[in-house]
Amino acid sequence: MHNEELAAIAKKLVTPPKGILAIDESTETCTKRFEKLGIESTEENRRAYRELLITTPLIEQYVSGMIMVDETIRQHTKEGKPFLEILKEKGMEAGIKVDGGLEQFGNSPIEKITKGLEGLPERLREYKSLGITFAKWRAVYFIKNNLPSDELIAESTIRLVKYAKMCQEAGIVPIVEPEVLMTGEHTLEQTEKVISDVLDVLFIRLAQQNIFMPGLLLKTGMVVPGDKVEKATPEEVRDATLRCLGDYVPKNIGGVVLLSGGLDEESATIYLNALHNTGDLPWPLTFSYGRAIQNPALTLWAKDMSGVGEAQKALLERAQANSKASVGEYI
Ligand code: G3H
Repeated sequence: MHNEELAAIAKKLVTPPKGILAIDESTETCTKRFEKLGIESTEENRRAYRELLITTPLIEQYVSGMIMVDETIRQHTKEGKPFLEILKEKGMEAGIKVDGGLEQFGNSPIEKITKGLEGLPERLREYKSLGITFAKWRAVYFIKNNLPSDELIAESTIRLVKYAKMCQEAGIVPIVEPEVLMTGEHTLEQTEKVISDVLDVLFIRLAQQNIFMPGLLLKTGMVVPGDKVEKATPEEVRDATLRCLGDYVPKNIGGVVLLSGGLDEESATIYLNALHNTGDLPWPLTFSYGRAIQNPALTLWAKDMSGVGEAQKALLERAQANSKASVGEYI
């Protein structure tokens, strides 16, 4: 595939007023979320829930693409229509999480590294043949005492960039996601420092490895303090996030997409809106939220799994709110 096609897919994913809906919870994570609400995590229940999300009427007005897991891209509606066909009909791009989750990093009792590079080129070839156009790989960093370590940042970066290269070679747009976790008591300033350190190393290496910037998306959290301390104002979050991104993200990148990382729904929307209230940004910037869009829908579905109408209404409402925020028009 030519670079122009990669750039066109990336551009479509971040074209206003749309963003990405992340429905790529691993079976383990999905099981945790289901069980909290009393839903049994069977393959059929996961299928039914993903069907509800994918078939929500008019979701495509606000959502440019969905990130899924391997299980989901092979599933069908109850009537037997492949999910990938529905996405295509609605004009949404189909994305896949390709990392293999986390494992312990060296001897660290806390730090974790993302695995999954083995056999990735072959998997990407198959995904491409199925019509998948973009992928995601998530690295995570805890903020605690002196962590994250320089060693983890270095090794995670090497893997993220290898993944990005493999994706572009396969004709798939990579989303590189170095997620600095909100969990903890750290300040907004500490988050800003860690995200800056991570982005600094990442973008140096992406350039060294000749990754084609217009065919790449960065997925990051906004700069917020830890979830155990007082929240920052939208203006503080906006200013710190734009400082960080402004210092390291090249202007020719395909775009920046944000994760919600455990923020409550309203904060995720208000912060995104604030980011778009300062005038023109150097890069396209929109949402790629999971929980902040799905949570109300999942809660409603758990109460009545025989009906999907209320849950779909709630999903559409959050998607619309974030679509408005992505152009600074959320009141
Ligand atoms: O990797 C994270 C997901 O794609 C986004 O999920 O918005 O719930 O953090 P989140």
